[in-house]
Amino acid sequence: MSDIQTIESEALKAIDGASDLQSLDAVRVAELGKKGRVSGLMKTLGKMSPKERQEMGPKLNALKNRVADAVEARKTTLEDAALEAQLATETLDMTLPPKPEHVGALHPVTQVFEEVAAIFGDMGFAVAEGPDIEDDWHNFTALNFPEGHPARETHDTFFMETPEGGDPKVLRTHTSPVQIRTMTSQKPPIRILAPGRVYRNDWDATHTPMFHQVEGLVIEKGIHMGHLKGCLVDFVKAFFEVDDVEARFRPHFFPFTEPSAEMDVKYTKKGETIEIGAGDRWMEILGSGMVHPNVLRNCGIDPDEYQGFAFGMGIDRLAMLKYGMPDLRPYFEADPAWTRHYGFKPWLTPSVSGGLS
Ligand code: PHE
Repeated sequence: MSDIQTIESEALKAIDGASDLQSLDAVRVAELGKKGRVSGLMKTLGKMSPKERQEMGPKLNALKNRVADAVEARKTTLEDAALEAQLATETLDMTLPPKPEHVGALHPVTQVFEEVAAIFGDMGFAVAEGPDIEDDWHNFTALNFPEGHPARETHDTFFMETPEGGDPKVLRTHTSPVQIRTMTSQKPPIRILAPGRVYRNDWDATHTPMFHQVEGLVIEKGIHMGHLKGCLVDFVKAFFEVDDVEARFRPHFFPFTEPSAEMDVKYTKKGETIEIGAGDRWMEILGSGMVHPNVLRNCGIDPDEYQGFAFGMGIDRLAMLKYGMPDLRPYFEADPAWTRHYGFKPWLTPSVSGGLS
């Protein structure tokens, strides 16, 4: 019995006296380790008579638990103290200016979003948003893609798992569903710009499964193709910062616009750099068209009263063209060296009057 008391008081004293985690562990091993004193006492149980064991068993177990609890408690205290000490050496004065080598940079996609928003903002467009996880109705049906229409297949859609009886959900394949969300929640006249992430199952040097689009939508009385053309030509001139741009609208098909057109601009290639505006080659830069009467009707707008145009463009490619990045993949690799090289100073907000880039 006296053994138990001596060992306990000695052990507790040693535990209390341990000044760091290492010496605490040494005490633990000396008492509770395989060859430790407490373990040694536990082993004597085997040689006892059943009666002795009945008496000593609970006492020894209790000793073992008390010592183990004391070790744990001391460990927590020491760990807390170590953390406090570490935190005390790691204070950060948020009022200090950043070290120049640590200044972050805006990703070119963010920069281009801001530039596009500044240009259309000047023309009276407001920014609108919609969810990345979209339902089938907003992404396809309301946009006049009939059920089973082959155009649905061309989008390489990522389908979400649908709960039994639930609404089928997809990762939106374009920003056009924001047209629907806007027209069902606002009354015309409407001028919105919807930047966002879109998703298609595609992966090579010029396609990534997630990419960025900007959608534009105008719904007013008496809107026609001339407005669409003027607006987009003005945009291209402002965006590429050129005085003039030769553009053409080539007939195309989108289920949600009629007529539909892809916009091409003339460009020249000088070595590796591309100059937009004039030259001997055409480059496609966006899809557009007059909003299909069915789409207006699906949103409760009378096509005899209101007309409109819409356009959609890939932001990643516009950034590549304007800032000369040859490959799309590093966009999504989060390499700070790449961002430092191609990125933009965060405090220079683009504006049409103050300069875009
Ligand atoms: N949503 C189309 C696409 O992703 C682009 C587009 C938008 C075309 C609006 C016409 C009008 O390809």
